[in-house]
Amino acid sequence: MALRDSQPKTIHLKNYRVPDFLIDKTDLVVELGETETRVKSTLAMRRNPESEDWSVPLELHGVNLQLQSIAIDGDPLEDDEYYLGGELLSIHRSLNESFIFSAEVIVKPQENTSLEGLYKSRNMFCTQCEAEGFRKITYYLDRPDVMAEFTTTIVADKSRYPVLLSNGNPVASGEEGGRHWVTWHDPFKKPAYLFAMVAGDLAHIADTFTTASGRVVDLRIYVEEKDLDKCAFAMTSLQKSMAWDEEVYGREYDLDIFMIVAVDDFNMGAMENKGLNIFNTSAVLAKQEITTDASFQNIQAIVAHEYFHNWSGNRVTCRDWFQLSLKEGFTVFRDSQFSAAMGSPVVKRVQDVNLLRTLQFAEDAGPMAHPVQPASYMEISNFYTLTVYEKGAEVVGMIRTLLGPELFRQGADLYFARHDGQAVTIDDFVAAMGEVSGRDFSRFMHWYRQAGTPRLDVAGHYDAAASTFALTFKQHCPPTPGGSDKKPCLIPVAMGLVGPEGDLPLRAEGLDGATHAVLEVAEAEQTIVFRDVPVKPVPSLLRNFSAPVKLHYPYSRDELLFLMANDSDGFNRWEACNQLSLDILKHIIAARVDGHHLVLDPRLVRAFRGLLADQSLDKAMVALMLTLPSEALLGEEMEVIHVQAIHDVRREVRVAIARALRGELLACYDALQLDEPYSPEPEQIACRSLRNTALAYLSLLDEPALLDRIHGQAVAFANMTDSHAALVSLVNSPVPAAAPLARDALARFYEQWRGEPLAVNLWFQAQAGAMLPGGLERVRGLLEHEAFDIRNPNKVRSLIGAFANANAVNFHRGDGAGYRFLADKIIELNRLNPQVASRQLTPLTRWRRYPHDLALQMTSELRRILAEPGLSADVFEVVSKSLANLDNR
Ligand code: BES
Ligand code: ZN
Repeated sequence: MALRDSQPKTIHLKNYRVPDFLIDKTDLVVELGETETRVKSTLAMRRNPESEDWSVPLELHGVNLQLQSIAIDGDPLEDDEYYLGGELLSIHRSLNESFIFSAEVIVKPQENTSLEGLYKSRNMFCTQCEAEGFRKITYYLDRPDVMAEFTTTIVADKSRYPVLLSNGNPVASGEEGGRHWVTWHDPFKKPAYLFAMVAGDLAHIADTFTTASGRVVDLRIYVEEKDLDKCAFAMTSLQKSMAWDEEVYGREYDLDIFMIVAVDDFNMGAMENKGLNIFNTSAVLAKQEITTDASFQNIQAIVAHEYFHNWSGNRVTCRDWFQLSLKEGFTVFRDSQFSAAMGSPVVKRVQDVNLLRTLQFAEDAGPMAHPVQPASYMEISNFYTLTVYEKGAEVVGMIRTLLGPELFRQGADLYFARHDGQAVTIDDFVAAMGEVSGRDFSRFMHWYRQAGTPRLDVAGHYDAAASTFALTFKQHCPPTPGGSDKKPCLIPVAMGLVGPEGDLPLRAEGLDGATHAVLEVAEAEQTIVFRDVPVKPVPSLLRNFSAPVKLHYPYSRDELLFLMANDSDGFNRWEACNQLSLDILKHIIAARVDGHHLVLDPRLVRAFRGLLADQSLDKAMVALMLTLPSEALLGEEMEVIHVQAIHDVRREVRVAIARALRGELLACYDALQLDEPYSPEPEQIACRSLRNTALAYLSLLDEPALLDRIHGQAVAFANMTDSHAALVSLVNSPVPAAAPLARDALARFYEQWRGEPLAVNLWFQAQAGAMLPGGLERVRGLLEHEAFDIRNPNKVRSLIGAFANANAVNFHRGDGAGYRFLADKIIELNRLNPQVASRQLTPLTRWRRYPHDLALQMTSELRRILAEPGLSADVFEVVSKSLANLDNR
């Protein structure tokens, strides 16, 4: 475990230096044992000709390794020829230009609860090396710009571990006594973070994919025997991803075999190790009985994401971890394009924008704010963030919007061709886009190097006499930790002007009558004047959310209603509805905080009635529009987050809508009963989402017959989507008569699914997120449940994470008990799994946004954590940064 003995050091991008040594070939022999594992490494090394200093000693990374022996060119080192200090092994012997370094170490995977390096998940050995986990397996130059050809031999007990896997192709095998071995060879040079191995008693499903050039690739998904019936969906997703990447990016798969392994204990969703992706079971296993529609879609996206990394990440990798968004931002962008193509592009865009606005904007406004390309970090694991991933994907999307699809594809082709087999930087990516287009991206680079969400204020002025419409844009980026002097960004603003008859032709400098345009807003303030505008238009701005900014335009509610009905951009029709709901809710909440009661603007009910009546609309879009902005998004929109007022007002408005539209909602619920067999396809998913949106409203009405129907849906177990939606509505219904039904449904759910951990996690989540009073007590009780295990990250996220992130009224209770609870759990997790501990900290780091009395209690818990001995670098970095600059409040 990486427990802290001194303050962790800060690593700076500006201090990057090329490696002094390179590794051409890496040979590993891993002898797996029940108490210890022996790792023998043979590294063919040489001095880097590009290194500035040929006198520096060889220094290798290593963490928690028991060194048995080291040799250079077969000659063992004496005790005084090396030095072991902290996480470095220094070699003090004069070295030739090239040499063989060999070492033998002992590691203890059975004791490794950090789930990084080599560890055990249930009865299986597996690895997780990104970002810096390989150094927990053997001494190495554990940095992504050191790329080697790997050969790996795994030796293990044959009956316990009949399946032995690593990267590349199997090239040899054998057995002796009860033990057997398999040697794998990966012909592609790669950094150590893409290394993987697995050993276990695994079953698999197999299929093939024939590439565009006619090569047949063997596809396999390895799981425990009991999960074989949950692999088919991921296999189909993989095949669709492979075909899509050929079609849209011209990228073929390169090895003869592609394997996915599912493991129960995993810090993240999945990992793109070359030829051997390792997946959290939650990100790969699916069948309708236990998997919700949302989870099916998530699995398809994650399978695609990890597969796409084979080019954006593996064939072309990162020079250093400051370039993380080079692979993650680009790959998230690619997987979003894929998901959009497999379903409804507008629905996918709304989901992405909701995520960005709720979580990434909050991160960008908080103490951990950092640019897409951070300038420094203490612990790289803390920088797998919404900013690097989601904002990074937005930035790639803006490049595509500016270039158009053809030039963007040319730029991607150039990038892949030029840098195949290399470890490169974000600048290399942008340079390829600049070259194919002849554009200057210097101002655009602020998107990568400046933290914070720009605010874009827009004003419109119609001059009837001159028939002109002027739009004035003012941009401003608020200060963030370590950066107050922000430069204007190049903001692509996709837009149109909507008149009573639809989109008006746009005539202005550089625009000659098309009805849609991408304006390039690059100055702190700039104005564009449209000519020949016959009527006062309503501007439709930032179509499809063309830039990750906070747009402010003084729309009246009637103008929003107009856009909701008339905008030609599907995303902006949703956005108009979203802004209308937000505006109405924010006003009522603000009044409530001041002790006043406002009535609900009847225009919202009328608009919703219209949505329910219009059969021509996409059902998934109707469901999204009928769903009020989440409590988290409402909080994000307010200066001070008044948790109870937000919760109460949102609930009361939902109740008012349910009462006013009872008939329409019930008719919708009845009409959308599907009688075809379940399938996780977009049309059916849309239907279920609208039907269950109606159900959620109906669950707020005090009507026993309705509540019985919802309870019936929960316990029919027809499919997990419907069962889960009904269960969640019941446990959140404020109607007293719902309580016994919720209790009964919960009990039956557990009885039904106690043997399926992924379903049990949904059961934990539903209870942890239940917003009725007493939530903390219920969660404390569940910690003692037979199915809970704090060592399993999925369980931690389902119970502790869901409580702290999705149950604001209970987590932020006035006596601070919610905060105390979370801090206790973080202290416990810090020793077991620093990465998981650090991620659970997020809600406490947001203390500046809450009323003073709550903020005080939150900071006192943060200070208590900071005072703990043996704090990991992961937790230390987040806690110390979130407490910094207290005086500047
Ligand atoms: N490379 C990451 C997995 C990873 C992240 C490993 C951090 C080690 C530390 C992988 O490609 C990834 O990004 N996975 C995401 C899912 C994806 C769909 C965004 C994840 O695991 O959440
Ligand atoms: Zn990724």
